Amino acid sequence: MKAVLFDLDGVITDTAVYHYKAWKALAAKIGIEIDEAFNEQLKGISRMDSLESILAKGSKLDAYSEEDKLALATEKNDLYKTMIQQMTPEDILPGINDLISGLKAKGMRLGLASASQNGPMILEKLGLKDTFDEIVDPAQLKAGKPDPEIFLTGAQDLGFKPEECVGIEDAAAGVDAINAAGMVSIGVGNEQTLQKATTVVPDTASLSAALVERVWRETVEHS
Ligand code: BG6
Ligand code: MG
Repeated sequence: MKAVLFDLDGVITDTAVYHYKAWKALAAKIGIEIDEAFNEQLKGISRMDSLESILAKGSKLDAYSEEDKLALATEKNDLYKTMIQQMTPEDILPGINDLISGLKAKGMRLGLASASQNGPMILEKLGLKDTFDEIVDPAQLKAGKPDPEIFLTGAQDLGFKPEECVGIEDAAAGVDAINAAGMVSIGVGNEQTLQKATTVVPDTASLSAALVERVWRETVEHS
């Protein structure tokens, strides 16, 4: 194992809840109701794809021009950015700092594979700006998760083969992307939702460098 590719929202920090709150408010404004179960489908999905999914749920896909859709997505993003303004290093999820330092101590390279265009700003707020060796720019990708492109790009940027990498995700679409990239996947959250992951842990506090390395080694040995 040479490198670990991290998702951001819901893995490094709990921004997943703010994405949900902002989409819920935006959707309500245009007469569409979304709940937490529906929100599971939005996790890991790009801003515009999330909007399309919400509009489809409300049978309003054809109700807006491309310009209107961009305005709606911008409105959601402005709301989201207000919500995350106060973030500090205290908002790093339990166990993540130890995981990062443990992986670095083992000589692992770290990459960020987040669909969020707010990623660099959030890392700055969390004091993690210089933590990652590579940060994939989601704006440069052709396809979002569950397409493997973001993880394949991350591995390539780091200079390793996918099979030398582990990906960590809280979203089903993200786990699918890691698996499709040919990497070992670790899911953080609900075992049922993330059942396709190589291993699922219930929360970030359950992650450790030793666990990540063990899951990778056991998977490689059995393949
Ligand atoms: C992902 C989140 O990390 O980033 C999604 O799980 C979000 O909920 C996506 O839609 C895009 O984020 P942003 O910040 O570019 O709107
Ligand atoms: Mg996530």
